[in-house]
This record gives sequence, structure tokens and C-alpha cells, in this order.
Amino acid sequence: MARKITRLGALCAAIAAQGAEAAVSFAIPNKAGTGAQLYAPLDPAPVGISFEFFAFPSYFTNVTATKQCLANWKDLTGVWPPIRIGGTTQDRASYDSSTSAYVVYSVANPADAPATLTFGPKFMTLAGTYPGSVVVGLNRGKNNIDNTIAAAKVAVSEVTNLLAIELGNEPEYYPKDGQPIASGTWNPSVDAASQVDWSIRVGSAVGKRNIIQAGNWNQPPPEWGAAQLIASENATASQYIRHYAHHNYPGGDVQKLQSHSQTSSNVRSMFAADVAAVKQQTGKEYVLGETNSVSGGGAANVSPTFGAALWTMDYALRAAAHGISRVYFHHGTVGNCQYCFWGRYSMGAPYYGATAAVALAAGASSIAALDAGTDGYAAYVTFDAAGAPLRALLYNSDYYAGGGAEPRSSQQFTLTGLRGDRVRAKRLTAASSLSRADRGNDISFGGQYWVNGTCVVGGEEVFETVEVAGGRATFDIKAAEALLVYL
Ligand SMILES: *[C@@H]1O[C@H](CO)[C@@H](O)[C@H](O)[C@H]1NC(C)=O
Ligand SMILES: *[C@@H]1O[C@H](CO)[C@@H](O)[C@H](O)[C@H]1NC(C)=O
Ligand SMILES: *[C@@H]1O[C@H](CO)[C@@H](O)[C@H](O)[C@H]1NC(C)=O
Repeated sequence: MARKITRLGALCAAIAAQGAEAAVSFAIPNKAGTGAQLYAPLDPAPVGISFEFFAFPSYFTNVTATKQCLANWKDLTGVWPPIRIGGTTQDRASYDSSTSAYVVYSVANPADAPATLTFGPKFMTLAGTYPGSVVVGLNRGKNNIDNTIAAAKVAVSEVTNLLAIELGNEPEYYPKDGQPIASGTWNPSVDAASQVDWSIRVGSAVGKRNIIQAGNWNQPPPEWGAAQLIASENATASQYIRHYAHHNYPGGDVQKLQSHSQTSSNVRSMFAADVAAVKQQTGKEYVLGETNSVSGGGAANVSPTFGAALWTMDYALRAAAHGISRVYFHHGTVGNCQYCFWGRYSMGAPYYGATAAVALAAGASSIAALDAGTDGYAAYVTFDAAGAPLRALLYNSDYYAGGGAEPRSSQQFTLTGLRGDRVRAKRLTAASSLSRADRGNDISFGGQYWVNGTCVVGGEEVFETVEVAGGRATFDIKAAEALLVYL
């Protein structure tokens, strides 16, 4: 149970910040499923990447770091991370069977996304080279179902590891975007009827059940949520739907973004009821099909920071602990993407946080959040297939802007229920919440970093060792730091 922050507690915390802070304490369950906390099954690769539709060929043919950044996670977990290809430009794209190019478009400025584009069969062939699971997003906005069915057939034949097809991206915005399908009345129930109709027609045309990733809205549930879509489905439609997806960009400044209570409350209030409805009514998966820190490619002073990296880690794990199967972090226009984990020339800080989350999840079958999500201090534990605890991740989400004006506070985390007489740990750290990998600030995970342009790991791997006495150990974690403890 985490400490409750009271006014007195906050005062004590301020005084204690100079010295040792009262410890928060968490008991490691000796087996998954025991005790009061909730356990969620964990996907073999719960942290994924979303590529903006038009930019996908560029990421895969022209950005050297892409393959290595994905391979680093495969090396940690044994499973290639899942990818999704889609976004706003999927609803601007038309399939052209006659083009030999991946994508055809023109933009006034390389920083822009195209207003319209075509793609050829090679686009899907390229997606088929990826050894991990692939979700492909196709166009519904243009209301040209014959073109979408032609594209879906190529996706099914070319994308070896095709997990699902999306029919439209964030359809609640179709009227604003002037999309033909929404030229009449457009609201959640009209969209739901359209999703049902298209799922049946595309699913039957490609001859595959469990093939559609439905939903894909950005506006929050329940208005734009899976529960209302499920209510519109009959048995013919639901056989084609593999799972449900939602998008989310929490936004805010760095301090708010990295706040653990904020992230916990966002995930709980936005998604807990919709996830529960999907599980109870269909037993299917729920994913965050597209997400990142701030919408529209990110915010220049927020999305590339270490604070955003800490958010990435905490958000992926909180979502997993709420039963969300996979979280796909969006990557937009190459060279104009504040929240990207990597680019053509430099690494982004968020890759560090995402990698810490992947390292906690590696090889695990289930996860539990040990904290109530009501203060700044988080603790997650993962368990193996037999239910034995594997690792814990401890996170101090207090903000630290650096600059030396104020001392950096530290929080003690005590873990009980430990076995053996010592544990090893890897620290995720940086000089401040505002540190940036793309500005040459030191950020490290277990003493290591990833090289600009290639995403090859650099530096010596460093483990800390902490003594365990009577099943108990205490860890000092500075403001804006996390520690991965190997149990
Ligand atoms: C790769 O980048 C070069 C310039 O940086 C560009 O001319 C080319 O079109 C890009 N290729 C793809 C597939 O995006
Ligand atoms: C479900 O609805 C579709 C029309 O949207 C219809 O073609 C189909 O027959 C219905 N299936 C069942 C089982 O009622
Ligand atoms: C990575 O690239 C950025 C941007 O050019 C630079 O500031 C930083 O020093 C580089 N980092 C390393 C480790 O070379």
C-alpha cells in the first residue's frame, strides 16, 4: 500500500526532501493471483510501435535505426514488437494496383503529411517482411469500399504476420475532415452501423474471421467507445472482429505528463469501464492502437524529454495492468516528429522509458500494479507462467527540472516478501525531467544508451546490488527516476 499524501505528509516530504524521505512500502506477492491486487495477463510483446501510413515505407527503407530499435526489444523478450501501420493518412490513401512504388504523393514541404496519396502492392509486400505482428489501417472515410477490399486482399496475401485490418482511423473526425462517408448525419451510432457493415463486407470478401481491429476512435468512451459498438453488432459482424482499439494522447506539460497519479487516473477513468465491457461481453482483446504524449506529432518542449520517457514507461505498464493487451506508440513524419522514439539522425528519450517497460515485461505472463495510483510513487510486478514473481519496477514520478536551484529529492521504496540475500537492479536515470537524448543530455538505462542513427546499444551494462534482510530491502530513487529490480 502506498503512503497517502496529506497536507502534513506533503510538508514532511518537503522537509525530508533534503534528507531521507519516509519510505513507501510494497509487498511482493509470492504468487500471481494472491492478495488484494488485480492481476492482468500480459501479451508476449505488450509495447508496440505505430507508423503513420504514408511514412511507413520511409521508416522501413530509409531510417536505419528502425530495424535495430525493434530488434533490441526482440532480443530482450524473444518476440518482435507488434507494429501498426495507419493514422490520419490511411483515410487519405487509395490503393493503386498499377503502381510499382510503395507510396506516391507530393508535399510542399518535407515536414508535411500528404493531403492525398496512393500506394501499390509493394507497400504490403514491405509490411510482409516484418517478422512481428502487423496491423494494417485502411480507408473508410473516402467511402470507396471496392478500393478498400482490393487493398485488404493484398494485405491478406502479402502481409505474412497480419494480425488485423482497421477500417478507418479516428472516424469521429470524418465530418471535420470532409470525408465523403460522413456527408450526411455522423454520430457514434451511424459510425457503429458503418463499422458493422464494412466489417461484414470486408471480412467476407477476404474470407477471414477475426480479422478486423474495430473502433479506433480518439474521443473518449463511452460516447466513442467499444461498448456502444458492441451493442450494434450482430453475430455476423462479431465473427469478423478480432479485437477493439482506442487512441489516446493525454497531453499536458512535462510535470503533469510524468505524474504517476495523473497517468493512473487517465488510464482508469478513460478506459477501465470500456475494457471491462469488452472482456465481459466478447472476451476479446482491447488495445491502444495509437497513442503518444501529445497529439499532432508531439509538443516540442514536452514530447522529446526524459519526463515524457518516464510517462511512456508508466503509461504502457498502467495500461497493461488494466488488461489492455498492447499499446502502439505513434511515429509520424520522419524529420518532424517530437514524440518519436528514434529518427534518421538521433534517438529520442522516450525509447529509454519504453525499453524499461519492455524489460519489466520480458518473458512474463502476468502483471500487477501494487500501488493505488493515488500518489507519485508506482510499483509494478511481473510474474512468469508458473506465477512466480520475476521483476519489479519502482517509479518516483516527482518532477525535477534540474538547473541546480533546488536539491533533487529522493524517495525510499521498501520491498518486502523478497527471497535470497540480495537483489540486482537497473536504474533509468537522467540529469533532469527535461533531459533530451536528441540534445546530447545523458540518459541511461542500466548504464547504457542507444547510438544516434543506428540504435545500437552503447556503454557497459551496470547492475546495482542491494542487500535483502528478513525478506526486505530498501531502494533510494531520486525524483524522476525508475528502478527495475530483478527478483
Ligand atoms: C529516402 O530519403 C530520400 C532523401 O532523404 C528520399 O529522396 C527518398 O524518397 C526516401 N525514400 C523513401 C522510400 O521514403
Ligand atoms: C447482421 O446484419 C447484417 C446487416 O447489417 C445482415 O446482413 C446479417 O444477416 C445479420 N446477421 C444476423 C445473424 O442477423
Ligand atoms: C545524438 O544526436 C544529438 C543531436 O544531434 C546530439 O546532440 C547528441 O550529442 C548525440 N548523442 C550522442 C551520444 O552522440
